[in-house]
Amino acid sequence: MSRRIDKGKCKGYAFAGWVTLLIATAGAAHGEGLDSTASVGKRLAVAADCVACHTAPGGEAFAGGYPLSSPMGTIYSTNITPSKTAGIGNYTSEQFARAVRDGVAADGTRLYPAMPYTSYSKMTDSDIAALYDYFMHEVTPVDTPNQKTALDFPFNIRASMIGWNALFHSKTRFTPDPAKSAEVNRGDYLVNGLAHCDTCHTPRNVLMAADSAKPLAGGSLGSWYAPNITSDKVSGIGAWSSDEIVAYLRTGHVEGKAQAAGPMAEAVENSLQHLSDVDLKAIAAYLLQTTPIKTGESKARHEYGQASVDELTLRGGKPGDNPGWHVFSGTCANCHQPNGQGTREYPSLFHNTATSRSDNLIAAIVYGVHREVDGVAIDMPGFGPDALFTDRLNDQQIADVSNYVLSRYGNADAVVTAADVAQVRNGGPQAPLAVMAKFTIPVIILVCLLIGLGAWALIARRRKEA
Ligand code: HEC
Ligand code: HEC
Ligand code: HEC
Repeated sequence: MSRRIDKGKCKGYAFAGWVTLLIATAGAAHGEGLDSTASVGKRLAVAADCVACHTAPGGEAFAGGYPLSSPMGTIYSTNITPSKTAGIGNYTSEQFARAVRDGVAADGTRLYPAMPYTSYSKMTDSDIAALYDYFMHEVTPVDTPNQKTALDFPFNIRASMIGWNALFHSKTRFTPDPAKSAEVNRGDYLVNGLAHCDTCHTPRNVLMAADSAKPLAGGSLGSWYAPNITSDKVSGIGAWSSDEIVAYLRTGHVEGKAQAAGPMAEAVENSLQHLSDVDLKAIAAYLLQTTPIKTGESKARHEYGQASVDELTLRGGKPGDNPGWHVFSGTCANCHQPNGQGTREYPSLFHNTATSRSDNLIAAIVYGVHREVDGVAIDMPGFGPDALFTDRLNDQQIADVSNYVLSRYGNADAVVTAADVAQVRNGGPQAPLAVMAKFTIPVIILVCLLIGLGAWALIARRRKEA
């Protein structure tokens, strides 16, 4: 399956928070179909979306070399085909399990949490064994050598991950909660393990580890924002029905609620559309019983706005003093309609979670919306400076049209400036660790502290176990 080059495409995995934004230079040939004969291991690989990170744009499946940009520098994924010279062909099943669940490569090197082992650590032994079988026997070996990851000092000291892991990485495998149904337990395993929804939807602390006090309460991925998906009826998705959640995950679109763009579109395209109904329902069942977490919203994200034809349009579209209206009527209205109501093909801009806050709205305008589901492409062109084939808008025009859309159809309290647009285009607000990296000495102290704290935590843990 190949896709056209799409330069502005933003691939934004949070990657355990280490990687806040990933700009792909070209759309990779990712989406792997699944037919009824697919092996258990292949299904697991699709649910875990291994291909997304381990395939370079335009490269061979699983041959690595995908650049993941993190605040600390670029981290390249590795070749995980069974090539004996360049890939993981010499990995034993134990070494494979240790890499995927604990972030330790065969030679003992610590992996950066850009590889989401913090979620995969919940994977069961039998799933890991099936996954290993798939990689060893079904994936085609490719001899493309790995691209070296060279982060700046002090982040190039991979041993600091020992400290980070001791503080933030739990090696506890998934154990079903006997007080909950089999369906909810299955959903838990998918959301917090195999399908690693938590890596994007859980906020991060200063050291970029998941904030365990706010599971699934929403996290910034750089340009995009992965919203609160706890069961709270206002801040989360507690007002969605199970069928709506399933439809969203399978197609990336629910009328009157939301659609999936950016990194969520990638998750739907590569992975979620291929999950069974049983698994998707289990995810919905789990999400709808999570502890509701309020994050300050006064209204559910999909409840904002209504149809509104600007009076300027009624007056024959004479240039008014609203610059946003000009951009809207010239660039957006032919698809989303002058009253914002959309058509069957193009979504309404009111009752749409994307217009409840500014970040995802700006990102959608800059990068567009691209998703392929059941072989059908859903496309909104991007209008940012890298956009191909379309009218480009400058930062001020994007700010103007965003403000127009927010005030007419969405959350009028959200206001966008040209500087906000520039920030989204440049990968979003800087992560605290990256800001700290500007001050190298405090960072060195931090890393030492991390190693020290980690050692202390390890010793404390061993004492407890002894
Ligand atoms: C979110 C992105 C991402 C996903 C999803 C992902 N990986 Fe990785 N993986 C990476 C990165 C990045 C590295 C290299 C990390 C480093 O250099 O520290 C890596 C490293 C590895 C390694 C170590 C390889 C070596 O060369 O020694 C293995 C094995 C691996 N991944 C397997 C998997 C499997 C199996 C899956 C699916 C279950 C998967 N990965 C999903 C990003 C990802
Ligand atoms: C790579 C990061 C990433 C992963 C993994 C991910 N999401 Fe998302 N998710 C996002 C982003 C970003 C959005 C916002 C998309 C938009 O508005 O276009 C989103 C949106 C959503 C929404 C819609 C919320 C709203 O208010 O519009 C739901 C529901 C959702 N995700 C559930 C899940 C579930 C369940 C999983 C795991 C099976 C998952 N996501 C995995 C990043 C991710
Ligand atoms: C060529 C038709 C077309 C044009 C022009 C267009 N859009 Fe879209 N828009 C779409 C399609 C298609 C989708 C995705 C529908 C889906 O996901 O099911 C979309 C989705 C959106 C979304 C939801 C994004 C998300 O993350 O959920 C927003 C917001 C949006 N458009 C705003 C705009 C604005 C503002 C403009 C003008 C600057 C614009 N659109 C121009 C076709 C268009």
